[in-house]
Amino acid sequence: MATADVLIFDTTLRDGEQAPGNSLSPEEKLRLARQLDALGVDILEAGFPAASEGDYRSVREIAAEVRRPVVAALARCHDRDIDLAGEAIGPAERARLHVFISTSDLHIREKLRVTRDDVLALVGSSVRRARTYTDDVEFSAEDASRTDPDFLCRVVELAIAEGARTINLPDTVGYALPNEYAAMFRDVRERVPGSGGVVFSAHCHDDLGLAVANSLAAIGAGVRQVECTVNGIGERAGNAALEEIVMACQVRHGALDFRCNVHPAEIYRTSQLLSYLTGVFPQPNKAIVGRNAFAHEAGIHQHGMLQNGLTYEIMRPEMVGIPRSTLVLGKHSGRHALERRFRDLGYDLTETQLSDVYRQFTALADRKREILDEDLLALLHESFHDAPEEYQLTHLRVVCGSVSPTAEVRMTGPWVGERSSRGTGDGPIAAAFTAISDILGRQVEVLSLSLRSLTPGRDSVGQVFLQAKIDGKSLSGNGASTDIVEASARALVHALNKARHADRLESSSLNSVYLWGV
Ligand code: KIV
Ligand code: ZN
Repeated sequence: MATADVLIFDTTLRDGEQAPGNSLSPEEKLRLARQLDALGVDILEAGFPAASEGDYRSVREIAAEVRRPVVAALARCHDRDIDLAGEAIGPAERARLHVFISTSDLHIREKLRVTRDDVLALVGSSVRRARTYTDDVEFSAEDASRTDPDFLCRVVELAIAEGARTINLPDTVGYALPNEYAAMFRDVRERVPGSGGVVFSAHCHDDLGLAVANSLAAIGAGVRQVECTVNGIGERAGNAALEEIVMACQVRHGALDFRCNVHPAEIYRTSQLLSYLTGVFPQPNKAIVGRNAFAHEAGIHQHGMLQNGLTYEIMRPEMVGIPRSTLVLGKHSGRHALERRFRDLGYDLTETQLSDVYRQFTALADRKREILDEDLLALLHESFHDAPEEYQLTHLRVVCGSVSPTAEVRMTGPWVGERSSRGTGDGPIAAAFTAISDILGRQVEVLSLSLRSLTPGRDSVGQVFLQAKIDGKSLSGNGASTDIVEASARALVHALNKARHADRLESSSLNSVYLWGV
């Protein structure tokens, strides 16, 4: 039997991003899209243009810039959704329009409040309309795994007859077991005329922890596209994790007869970038990309590993691009050493990026004796500016302990000279935040703040990720420092810079056609 090629359809920027806590700005989405391109995904679902003007703009930007993968946009079976998605993917080298509608009786009755006949009519008209924008139309039958098989076959037959080239049958609520999910595909492929001419696709959610197992079972049943997300992010328990599907294919290629185009060595870099952008890191024991995925603590395991790595390791961390080095940089390391280390980690920096990171590196080296790869990656991610750094923190002094916490802050901004303020709060971070929002005259409500220490040791760098509502708008920010109050203040200043940038973009698009206000 010939080895099958399976297409990897990445939906990190759509199904992944729409889950709480994962929202990204258009600039962040574009940065991630470039990395997904480097990862080698075949189809990149860039967003849901009807959801917001930001989503529309970011799908259009990605379609214009990312040229190799097929760029897809999602639309409900509504004319307006389809038109917005069709326009958004207009600039793409290869564009796909992805239309979906629920097909289970439960969804038809309770969510859509229509009849099966209405659904059939919408499927026909929507696939037809989508075809006016591109020949590459994908149709998804939402909640397919809980749909009456006879009705599912009718819907799929109609979508194929109207010209859909890809038929996606999602396990929307993560309910199916692998044998059931595979049987659904076998049944539909056998019964529906024209099935041989289209690509069937799996899309699995992880509510029972079976998303990857279900996707692999579907491949065994003839599916030739799987939809997945980096780190498995997504609604509720998430989507099937891209890295797990790809590595299952790599490590078990004798048993699983398929191959895909993703470059495993880019997996870790992509996972890290996503985590830095969202501030959400995978749980430590997450397969492939978790902090402990390749750690061997138990003595008996360590003993085995020292004898032969194969005793407890089925793949090498290097295969997924996890750097393994004991190289330590410090105060006396120069620009070249830094550049070389970044190159070894897989990052070719431009002159400007190197200068920015080097400046931060020397500041850190004054406070921390040994600088490890984790520190370098934090510096790198902090130095990518997704918004102009108009506000800058120039001075921070906090007094806390047995006295009531106060903070003294000075900042530069789009005004002449420095502005300063003193703030108080329940703790030193709250005091610093009060002073910063006072200087800027903006309402700041902190929604969440998380802190992680990058490396072991007392002089570890603390990385702070924050979600804040700034004048009613939700934004994220991150900051790193050996001092966690300073790291938090930097994270807030980062979010404030993004808020200012977003205000600018909004006011410049006020004159454009107003499409989202319905
Ligand atoms: O889970 C799902 O059913 C979806 C569809 C919109 C493809 O995400
Ligand atoms: Zn989904």
